[in-house]
Amino acid sequence: MEFCCRRNFLVEGVLLYLLLNGVANASINKHPCDFPAIFNFGDSNSDTGGWSAAFGQAGPPHGESYFHGPAGRYCDGRLVIDFIAQSLGLPFLSPFLDALGSNFTHGANFATAGSTIRPLHQSGVSPFSLNVQWYQFSDFHRRVQTILDKTDEDGVVKKMAPKVEDFARGLYTFDIGQNDLTAGLFQNLTVDEVKESVPDIVGQFKTVIKEIYDDGGRSFWIHNTGPFGCLPYVLDRQLITAGQVDKHGCVGPYNELARYFNHQLKETVDQLREHLPKAVITYVDVYSVKYALITKATRYGFVHPLRTCCGHGGKYNYNMNIGCGGKVKVNGEDILVGKACDDPTVMINWDGVHYTEAANKWIFDQIVSGSFSDPPTPIGFACRKQY
Ligand SMILES: *[C@@H]1O[C@H](CO)[C@@H](O)[C@H](O)[C@H]1NC(C)=O
Ligand SMILES: *[C@@H]1O[C@H](CO)[C@@H](O)[C@H](O)[C@H]1NC(C)=O
Repeated sequence: MEFCCRRNFLVEGVLLYLLLNGVANASINKHPCDFPAIFNFGDSNSDTGGWSAAFGQAGPPHGESYFHGPAGRYCDGRLVIDFIAQSLGLPFLSPFLDALGSNFTHGANFATAGSTIRPLHQSGVSPFSLNVQWYQFSDFHRRVQTILDKTDEDGVVKKMAPKVEDFARGLYTFDIGQNDLTAGLFQNLTVDEVKESVPDIVGQFKTVIKEIYDDGGRSFWIHNTGPFGCLPYVLDRQLITAGQVDKHGCVGPYNELARYFNHQLKETVDQLREHLPKAVITYVDVYSVKYALITKATRYGFVHPLRTCCGHGGKYNYNMNIGCGGKVKVNGEDILVGKACDDPTVMINWDGVHYTEAANKWIFDQIVSGSFSDPPTPIGFACRKQY
């Protein structure tokens, strides 16, 4: 409902933009910001190979639909961040942690699977929490400056590092928070107990945005967290009682927790806009997009929204002990888990935790125009307070 009216704003905004810029300028520029680079921070929703570089490749059948083999992503193909990069005319982001074959000319990806906003001693499973991702970014930024200033006579670094000025002109993207919430639940905290930690979680998020701003970052594109109460790795837990499951088959209180976090994240973004006058911050309601996709799957051409494509057994085709890419014995033969899913283009869930490429594409198509953003800025305009 909230968004019905924003769409009108969007249309008016685009018309105004066209008028101001003169339609004489024959072709409509989809990317007036001309972002030269993307710096991404997050968890597995946008990990393009960080976890794989640190702890070993996510094996087949990951990557099969698009990359024809493992590509460091927990997906059969591209992630939302990949579609964002493509739409801005930029190459896929290299993971900061990947020593081989990386090229950071157009940005870097600091996201790794399992990452939380809060550091590992407070929650989660990944050492690369958001503050660590910021340390990595900050050091990367400083070293690009010093190396390009002094020593790069033969241009080796220049061929794979962003330009110094691209740090101010780049787009800073974020998709993180889900694991902070699930980490608490998986330690058997109640939803109310996890809620108590949310102010601290969003507070630490705020600190990192301020640090990046102080470092010169100006354009921020922030995804809220998805309806993880609809994901098999959560649904499959024995602790879930029938009374917690809603008419769509999702765990209502868990989705309510996600919305509670999102509400505080949005308030935090409002505060940041006040504190950081030169920042342009776009808050993107990915939750509503993912929830619509899962609860109205057939309308959008998808089937079995709560079942994994790459999994094994049970109501959700998910077994936490025999995951996507694992081996299972069938009639005495070792079978690769995931072989059975022959049409990932109609499935939403890939492996119990992550979305398929088809779902990611659908999600991207909804958010790129700004229809689900506050303010309703299309991604190509996300460097401007008004467009
Ligand atoms: C990295 O990518 C840029 C732009 O896509 C390209 O110009 C450059 O040659 C690449 N660097 C290396 C070392 O391949
Ligand atoms: C959470 O509760 C379940 C079911 O009672 C139990 O099996 C599991 O060990 C508990 N987990 C933790 C981290 O305490």
